[in-house]
Amino acid sequence: MKHKHLFIGLLLLIAALALAACAGTSGPEGPQGPPGPEGPPGPAGPAGPAGPAGTAGEAGAAAEMGDLTCTECHNDSAVMAGISNSWSESLHGSGEATAYAGSRTSCTGCHSGGGFSAAVEAGVSPVGEQESAAANPSRPDCRACHQVHVTYTGEDWALETTEAVPMAAFEGETFDGGKGNLCANCHQARRGVDEPNADGDVEVTSTHWGPHHGPQSAMLLGLAGAGEVEGAPSAHATMVEDTCVACHMGDGKVHTFEPNVAACQECHSGMETFDDTGLQTEVQEKLDQLEEALVARGWLDEEGHPAVEAIPAPEAYALWNWIYIAHEDKSLGVHNPTYTRALLDESLATLGLGE
Ligand code: HEC
Ligand code: HEC
Ligand code: HEC
Ligand code: HEC
Ligand code: HEC
Ligand code: HEC
Repeated sequence: MKHKHLFIGLLLLIAALALAACAGTSGPEGPQGPPGPEGPPGPAGPAGPAGPAGTAGEAGAAAEMGDLTCTECHNDSAVMAGISNSWSESLHGSGEATAYAGSRTSCTGCHSGGGFSAAVEAGVSPVGEQESAAANPSRPDCRACHQVHVTYTGEDWALETTEAVPMAAFEGETFDGGKGNLCANCHQARRGVDEPNADGDVEVTSTHWGPHHGPQSAMLLGLAGAGEVEGAPSAHATMVEDTCVACHMGDGKVHTFEPNVAACQECHSGMETFDDTGLQTEVQEKLDQLEEALVARGWLDEEGHPAVEAIPAPEAYALWNWIYIAHEDKSLGVHNPTYTRALLDESLATLGLGE
């Protein structure tokens, strides 16, 4: 009986399984298999809540201001504020050329402080096309001329560069004037005068024709004039230690960058003005004579802009020399007395003037 019941039970079970398979409904779950291999670790869970505050420690020693290297420059003296004030009044701090030219790749090397620092770092001349230019250019400022915020110590007053400067427009020529080399990077000619064309004319290509503003290092070396005159470096290029910096900043390192007559007295004892020997008056008179003649010929307008025309070479050279000396060097002969006089005398002679 027991067996018969089991048998019927089995039959019923088989029938039920077959029915279930036909009907498509799932049967009861089988027994669980053995555990699989361990999975990869899951992501870290969220941070737990902060623990309770610990007990207060012993008070440490107060921080000494003198331990902060920042105070070598940022301190209660008026040195930085004073220099900043002088700089603000100079054209470096107030001129309009940064806004006009600073974010152009062909001008940024000299017209943006950051552009200049980038050129120095890349080891390329600031003259000519740079790889990029900032949309928000900085001025020729503290950071352009000094290191500032590199080591965050007083060492950062070190000048950005004092390497000798190859004159970009004059192959093989180099300005090597001590700390003045810093200045010569930007204050150099961007071009020399073009050769005459087949007709013997020189093309004046724009109203900005000339060596470009600020060619003072070229003038000191006796370069960038037009015509037959052979230039040579002046005594002010070869004998004044640190050149530009000595005359334009002096012992007080005055950041207006205006020349100071005290610097002249080291060699010219008793010199009271830059014009003491009459050189500047002489140069100004010759410039006025030349200007009048150039305006009369129509090569120069009353505002001092050249006519954009092909001009016979000798007269174009006279025009170039007037622009160079009157408009761009602006020392009225002091940077290179001999060269300036020679350029003016030759230019005047070309136009049938002068002694
Ligand atoms: C070599 C001198 C020097 C040292 C050292 C120095 N700074 Fe400066 N700092 C400057 C100059 C220069 C400026 C720009 C001032 C100006 O534009 O007139 C400046 C500007 C700043 C500014 C204004 C924002 C800016 O960047 O122009 C801050 C903030 C500053 N410094 C903080 C510090 C701190 C913090 C330290 C020390 C960790 C320090 N400086 C060390 C020279 C220095
Ligand atoms: C990064 C380039 C750069 C360097 C370096 C530089 N300058 Fe200048 N300098 C300029 C520019 C640009 C101007 C005209 C700014 C303007 O008009 O916006 C200028 C203007 C001047 C002026 C005013 C000229 C005027 O027409 O009144 C003097 C003076 C001067 N610089 C002297 C110096 C001296 C000295 C040094 C070196 C200690 C020096 N510069 C270094 C770019 C530079
Ligand atoms: C080699 C460096 C150098 C480059 C490159 C350069 N400049 Fe200048 N520029 C100067 C210097 C230096 C002065 C300041 C001269 C001065 O005042 O004695 C100046 C002055 C100027 C001025 C002011 C002139 C005035 O008398 O008011 C203008 C505008 C100017 N530059 C435009 C440009 C433009 C535009 C470019 C690019 C196409 C350019 N510069 C490229 C060095 C440069
Ligand atoms: C056009 C270049 C130029 C600019 C811009 C300039 N400096 Fe200078 N600075 C110089 C030169 C060159 C010296 C003389 C360095 C020497 O004799 O070793 C000097 C000297 C100094 C010194 C004396 C450093 C020392 O070693 O004793 C300080 C401080 C100084 N500059 C601060 C500034 C500050 C601040 C600014 C910005 C407001 C600034 N400079 C902008 C060129 C520049
Ligand atoms: C022997 C001293 C001496 C040296 C060296 C010297 N300068 Fe000059 N610089 C002068 C004098 C003086 C003037 C005319 C100032 C005047 O007549 O008001 C002048 C005029 C200038 C001007 C025109 C300033 C203006 O207000 O119109 C600039 C820019 C200039 N120099 C830059 C330089 C640069 C850059 C160097 C170096 C490459 C340099 N100078 C080297 C003495 C010097
Ligand atoms: C390191 C010495 C030294 C310094 C500094 C110096 N000079 Fe000279 N200067 C000379 C020498 C050397 C001559 C060349 C004399 C010669 O060739 O007849 C000269 C020539 C001149 C001449 C030419 C005189 C003439 O009519 O032919 C003038 C002008 C002049 N300097 C003005 C200045 C002025 C202005 C300063 C200051 C801004 C100055 N010098 C700074 C050494 C210096």
